[in-house]
Amino acid sequence: MTRTRVIDATEDAIAEAAQILRQGGLVAMPTETVYGLAADATQPLSVAAIFAAKGRPTFNPLIVHVSSIEMARRLTVFDQRAEQLAAAFWPGPLTLTLPRRLEEPIADLVSAGLPSLAIRMPAHPVARHLLALCERPLAAPSANISGHISSTCAEHVLQDLDGQIDLILDAGSCAVGLESTIVGLGDLQAKLLRSGGIEQKQIEKIIGPLMSPTDAKVEAPGMLTSHYAPSCKLRLNAVNVDNNEALLAFGPNSPKGAALTVNLSHNCNLAEAAANLFAYLRQLDQPGIKSIAVMPIPEIGLGIAINDRLRRAAAPRAERL
Ligand code: TXA
Ligand code: MG
Repeated sequence: MTRTRVIDATEDAIAEAAQILRQGGLVAMPTETVYGLAADATQPLSVAAIFAAKGRPTFNPLIVHVSSIEMARRLTVFDQRAEQLAAAFWPGPLTLTLPRRLEEPIADLVSAGLPSLAIRMPAHPVARHLLALCERPLAAPSANISGHISSTCAEHVLQDLDGQIDLILDAGSCAVGLESTIVGLGDLQAKLLRSGGIEQKQIEKIIGPLMSPTDAKVEAPGMLTSHYAPSCKLRLNAVNVDNNEALLAFGPNSPKGAALTVNLSHNCNLAEAAANLFAYLRQLDQPGIKSIAVMPIPEIGLGIAINDRLRRAAAPRAERL
């Protein structure tokens, strides 16, 4: 494939993107969480092309993005809890896994052979407009090479996927910066499959306690392994730093002496830290840096999802998908 075009997400550009998707092509689209790599979820070859472009193992299923709750009801068995959560958080950074309706023409590869389908209605106006114009569900994983840091701006998508996809719609940086929270509703007991942009507590206010990822055996296949990884090593809970390390700081008091320092949030704002996380990890991932030292982030609110991503980024690479 030739070089990938990056264009501002104007009305005309979104119409062109919809056309490309209907014809079976691949388009990177902004969402409020991270950029997604979209294809028509009903075309098996297009879905297969997503896996090829990312180098993603085919046992790792994709999230289906919908333009309306009606579309979600059509594709899945959308129970009472799903209705309540959708009413509270859609459009927004929440994905639900539900039993898929087998009569619906979603490509089998989307759910990697699982009887469930992960489904979400994104809030970003460009993603919504694109979905509305396509009039079909879009399968979209994060727009990065499999196992690498997710993309929160068009430039990151280009770094990872140039030449692999048809078009990138550029709408600047993603406001949330972390992927959606995934809640599994396949069984009686609802499970938290991935922490993310919506806090567990907010969800529990609506449908009661969630089984946590440590209690539930992990059921989001993409969550088992090293992920979100820069090419250099990551060291967590750093209180000091070497001069051949890069420092990912948090809060007003950071140690001096790193080769390179960026601060996720000087005033300890976790939403700001989440929005900066992936861009800063990419920025610090430079040749000549021995490791990225990460200061402690409090395990509260969005800090839980931030720490989840950082632990996976620091995990041994042999396990990386
Ligand atoms: O915010 C987001 O969710 C972004 C934007 C683009 O929407 N998407 C995203 O997709 O993060 P991806 O593919 O990077 O992560 C999807 C996760 C993977 O861990 C995958 O294993 C899990 O969702 N997943 C997908 N379908 C599933 C299913 N049927 N059951 C359990 N887990 C599923
Ligand atoms: Mg991903």
